[in-house]
Parts: sequence; structure tokens; C-alpha cells
Amino acid sequence: MERIDKVISNQTGYSRKEIKELIRKKCIEVNGELVTKPEYKVDPNKDRISVNGQEISFQKFVYLMLNKPQGYISATEDRSAQTVLDLVPEEYLHRNLFPAGRLDKDTTGLMLITDDGEFAHNILAPKKHISKTYDVTIDIPMTQEMVNGFRDGVELNDGICKASSLTITGEHTGIVVLTEGRYHQIKRMFGCYGAKVTELQRIAMGNLRLPSDLEPGQTREFTEEELNLIREIIE
Ligand code: URA
Repeated sequence: MERIDKVISNQTGYSRKEIKELIRKKCIEVNGELVTKPEYKVDPNKDRISVNGQEISFQKFVYLMLNKPQGYISATEDRSAQTVLDLVPEEYLHRNLFPAGRLDKDTTGLMLITDDGEFAHNILAPKKHISKTYDVTIDIPMTQEMVNGFRDGVELNDGICKASSLTITGEHTGIVVLTEGRYHQIKRMFGCYGAKVTELQRIAMGNLRLPSDLEPGQTREFTEEELNLIREIIE
């Protein structure tokens, strides 16, 4: 059992002081009964707690997917640039959310944002080999030499890359699947062939695809089904 002010504060972001005031104004109920003191004890897994007539739901962790637009950095804060957390709706911001993995400032597409550290660690752990799929456009024609090189392991200045795949989909476009995530990896891999990446979008992580109805800049919570898709491969 925990104090109701602590439970509500953790879940909603209201300060303890604000909750005290809400209690004074008779705005908080437990199982339909008015609460009169902040030290009242509740079991968040069993009791129905409502604030201003609205029942609050208890989620231990939050898992959001974001369709990252260009111009945002994959960090929780930055002195000058906008971060992906600037795209997260206000209602989640009292949690300690962070992006699970990085995309360059000019890369777009699927990002996961969560406050579940273990989940994020597993998604990123090299030994779990979670694939990341990207739609790539380059400034020169794609070649078979690139396809072969990606398959055999491109040599970068920080070592040989793990085998990856490049499937050519157009003169300047292709799909790349990586199982590791090094700094600017795709840009550097194409750089070995004298090519510059002009557009890069992450379209999947493992078997979780960027939903076609998630507009750039939008976030939404994972469905239970999507969460299971990811859990299947990381656990
Ligand atoms: N490779 C890159 O070069 N940039 C990204 O953002 C992701 C993969």
C-alpha cells in the first residue's frame, strides 16, 4: 500500500502540493469514496482512483513510437537544437522518457521512446541482433558493387561492418538492413563508394514497421500486439 498523493503524483505529474489542494476541494475519490487526507493508503493495482471524476490508469512503463521528422536530435535535452522529446505530448512528460537508440538529425522515421531502461537496453544490445531497416536515397546510381560490399562487410575506419543487406529499389534508392548501429553507419558505408546519402528513413526495427498512418512528428503508444512483436525478439 502506498500514499495516495505519491501514487497520483507519479502517474499524473501533479505535484504533492497540487494533490493536497485537489483533496481539499473534494476532487479525489477511491472506489467511489471521497479522500480526505494525502496520507490515505491505496493499492494502485486494485483500487480505482479518480481525479476530477476521471479514473487514472496505472501503467508501469510507457512505450511510444515516433515518426521522427528531420531537424530533431535523438537526445533528451540540448541547449540549442530541438530534441525528439519536444514531439512527445505533454501528458507523458512527467515521466523519465528517453529515445531507445539514435537517428541522425537529418534522418527520419521510426523511433522508440520509453522509460523502461531494460527494454531499451535489450533493443540496442548488439547480441540481440535486432535488425534496423532503412529506405535510402543516394546522389549517384546504386551498383551491384555496393550490394556485394554490404553483404561481405564494408570496412570503415572503426573496423569492418557486420554483414548487411542492400536491395536496390530504383536508380538512386535502396533498402538497407543493419544488425548493428554505429555512428553515421549508413552514410559512412555509402561514402566508401563515393556516394552521399541524400535521404534516410528508418522504416522498421525487427518486425515492427513504421505505421503508414503515423505522420511525421506524430507519436502514439504501442498497441499490446506491437509490444509483443518486439518482446518476442528481445526476450
Ligand atoms: N545510419 C546513418 O548514417 N544515420 C542514421 O541516422 C542511421 C543509420
